[in-house]
Amino acid sequence: MRCDFNHQSLLQAARYLQDGKLVSFPTETVYGLGADATNDRAVASIYNAKGRPSFNPLIAHVPTLEAAQSIGAFSDTALQLAKQFWPGPLTVVVPLRAPSSISRLVTAGLDTIALRVPAPEKVRALLSEADRPIAAPSANLSGRISPTMATHVEADLGNKIAMILDDGPCQSGVESTIIDCSTETLCILRHGPVTQEEIASLFPGISSNRISVTNDTAPSAPGQLTSHYAPTKAVRLEATDKKADEFMIGFGAYQGDLNLSPTADLIEAAANLFAYLHQADESEAKMIAIAPIPYSGLGAAINDRLARAAAEQPTPKAGDLS
Ligand code: TXA
Ligand code: MG
Repeated sequence: MRCDFNHQSLLQAARYLQDGKLVSFPTETVYGLGADATNDRAVASIYNAKGRPSFNPLIAHVPTLEAAQSIGAFSDTALQLAKQFWPGPLTVVVPLRAPSSISRLVTAGLDTIALRVPAPEKVRALLSEADRPIAAPSANLSGRISPTMATHVEADLGNKIAMILDDGPCQSGVESTIIDCSTETLCILRHGPVTQEEIASLFPGISSNRISVTNDTAPSAPGQLTSHYAPTKAVRLEATDKKADEFMIGFGAYQGDLNLSPTADLIEAAANLFAYLHQADESEAKMIAIAPIPYSGLGAAINDRLARAAAEQPTPKAGDLS
């Protein structure tokens, strides 16, 4: 349902978000597809609605810098950037504080998190009312262009989400600038409305190589290439039984030590995926076996993630090289 973004619809939208439902809201960049970032199932339903064939980490939207700092650990540099550009179209990637209530599906299993405080006052009021961080990628079907009008969202996702808050066209139409502040060297992961020059001018004393820029010709989504969580143990896919030295992640009738979804529900399986991979990795077992997962619907994204996990050969730690 598309409705005017007013006080009444704001309250209703906040309730929907608290109930784990999807709500689209307009930011200064594009319309976002929001869900409770602390609710695994709600976050999984973002991927389901978008039909995304892979899991990328998502941006968590919060109403204030204080809220952001309760989730991520801000270096002095990150703090300086946030104070300068928030509220506004800048996303910072910072280490995730532990323990965290953030769904592992939001960070795609990483120990860093992307955070942003959006500019529109109404959106920050919605985030305050919802009283939890809201994960929100652009509100379009996978492979379609980012929506800058509520009618775009309605055309792509109208029948899949609880509510679309319509506040007219977005101001910028270009997604937020993403800057990785989790390492010594600042790195722009995605160019956007806050420019490299604006960022560099904040740190006059710093040499230019302090701010590096990712290759624009690389596959568009940052985090897709290098910054993905992969288990440290070898992974065996399509496993229909468990071997002695394995931790088995089951699905449906294939039980395992943990079962992604005993009822073979792919949204539930996606919701559990990263948490279970971590548990398997932390277990005593030497290897990880994973039951077959169907390729339909969200299964495509789950299998994509698992194929990457299996392809990444664990590298021996320095101490192991005798
Ligand atoms: O303007 C925007 O940022 C819009 C509006 C709705 O706020 N949102 C948006 O979200 O573009 P999304 O999910 O489409 O973009 C998130 C990007 C992804 O490309 C992802 O790879 C990167 O942020 N990202 C998220 N967390 C990351 C992390 N921990 N490390 C590296 N990259 C990360
Ligand atoms: Mg997008």
